[in-house]
Amino acid sequence: MTRTAADDDVPAIVAIEQTCFGAGAWSEGLVRDEVGSDRHVVLVTDDLQAYGAVSVAGEVADLDRIAVLPALRGRGVARDLLDDLVDRARDLGAGRMLLEVAADNGPAIGLYESYGFDTISTRRGYYAGGVDALVMELTIEEW
Ligand SMILES: CC(C)(COP(=O)(O)OP(=O)(O)OC[C@H]1O[C@@H](n2cnc3c(N)ncnc32)[C@H](O)[C@@H]1OP(=O)(O)O)[C@@H](O)C(=O)NCCC(=O)NCCS
Repeated sequence: MTRTAADDDVPAIVAIEQTCFGAGAWSEGLVRDEVGSDRHVVLVTDDLQAYGAVSVAGEVADLDRIAVLPALRGRGVARDLLDDLVDRARDLGAGRMLLEVAADNGPAIGLYESYGFDTISTRRGYYAGGVDALVMELTIEEW
C-alpha cells in the first residue's frame, strides 16, 4: 500500500535515497521541496521501505525517482508503486510519462520495459563517468 508522503516522511525518504543512490542521493532540502510541492507527487509505501516521485506539467509527467530498499526488492514493490504513480499522473491530466535512466541500470530498465515504457532516444554521456541515458516513454491510457 502506498500513500502521499508527508513532511514527517522526509528522513525516511532521505535514508532510502542514501541507501539506493549513494553519492547521487538527493539532499534533505531537495526531498523536502519535492514533498511540499504542488507540481510533484511523492508516494511512500506504508512500511517506508520504498518511494517514488513524479512531476506533472500539463500533459507530460516525468518519473523523477523510484527506489526500493535492497531487502524488499524482487517482490513487485516497484511495480505497485509505478501503478500508483501512473494513476496519480493520469488524475492530474498527464497523457504520457517520460524518464531518463542510466544505460547500465539493468534492474530499472527491466522494470520500465516490463511495464510498457519504450526507449525513444539516447543521451550520450549524460551521466557521470560518461554513461549514456536512455529516454523512455509510456503512453498513459485513459480510464
Ligand atoms: C529498480 C528498482 C526500483 C526495482 O525495484 P523492485 O521492487 O525490485 O522491482 P519489482 O520487484 O517491482 O520488479 C518488477 C519488474 O522489474 C523487472 N526487474 C526488477 N528487478 C530486476 C533485475 N534485477 N533485473 C532485471 N529486471 C528486473 C522485472 O521485469 C520485474 O518483473 P518480474 O519480477 O515479474 O520479472 C530497484 O532495483 C531499486 O530501487 N534500484 C535502485 C534505485 C534505482 O536505480 N532506481 C531507478 C532509477 S530512479
